[in-house]
Amino acid sequence: MRRVVVTGGGTGIGRAIAERFAGQGDEVFVVGRRKDRLEQVSATTPEGAIRPLVADLSNEEAVLRAAEELSDKPLDVLVNNAGGLVAREKDGLAGTFDVHRRVIERNLLTAMTFTEALWEHLTRPGGRVVNIGSIAGQRGGGGGYAAAKAGLSVWGFDLAAKGGPDGITVNTVSPGYVQDTEFFGENGRSARHDGLVAQTLLGRAGTPADVAATVAFLASDDAAWITGQVIGVNGGALLGR
Ligand SMILES: NC(=O)c1ccc[n+]([C@@H]2O[C@H](COP(=O)([O-])OP(=O)(O)OC[C@H]3O[C@@H](n4cnc5c(N)ncnc54)[C@H](OP(=O)(O)O)[C@@H]3O)[C@@H](O)[C@H]2O)c1
Repeated sequence: MRRVVVTGGGTGIGRAIAERFAGQGDEVFVVGRRKDRLEQVSATTPEGAIRPLVADLSNEEAVLRAAEELSDKPLDVLVNNAGGLVAREKDGLAGTFDVHRRVIERNLLTAMTFTEALWEHLTRPGGRVVNIGSIAGQRGGGGGYAAAKAGLSVWGFDLAAKGGPDGITVNTVSPGYVQDTEFFGENGRSARHDGLVAQTLLGRAGTPADVAATVAFLASDDAAWITGQVIGVNGGALLGR
């Protein structure tokens, strides 16, 4: 049984990742701001399989508290999945500054600081860090969100170099359009659904389970020699890089 932490594990892709690991018999912690969402995930699995840990990972004290709670035993897998779009709340340059700051905070800083806080507790050798990036971080489209996701994968390269001598791998999974999550709001579908599906070669949107399967592979022994990579899971919407 491994110890696995999934940020943003209360909904969407993160939830599917958490359930996938729990289904393999791992002990999973799901981290997020909304207690009710985390408890819902926990309630649908056998007792103790998925444990909720409430934390706003853009808050320094909350990151330290969460890391402290997790640091009693070594951690085998960290999945930095928390992220998403943010709404513009103010006009003018003040609004521009605010929206860029929050989107970078949500998609990049959360992963960087939480990983830093947990780094010494990762299993050596064999620890795994998997970041959830985005197709937007590879091809653009999404402004500050795309920039933050591009930053996440490049930061992952340096982290892979740091972890290599200790046998820790670091990779980024880069999903295309995935429906049935809260990313596009309550109905789980983009307003551009048909166009986004048409971009794929396989003619369908992705599912949270599609992404979870790739994360599970990267965390497995079979992926022991894969590190510093960006793996597209996008139905062929972006080819090869
Ligand atoms: N759906 C897609 O098409 C798609 C495509 C490419 C990449 N992605 C990426 O996939 C990841 C998962 O997204 P999703 O589609 O599953 O959407 P989602 O359902 O909205 O999941 C995002 C999760 O992140 C958590 N979160 C956000 N800010 C946080 C913070 N400050 N501290 C802790 N947790 C935080 C949210 O929980 P709380 O609100 O409760 O904190 C939520 O559970 C994101 O990084 C997203 O950018 C999604």
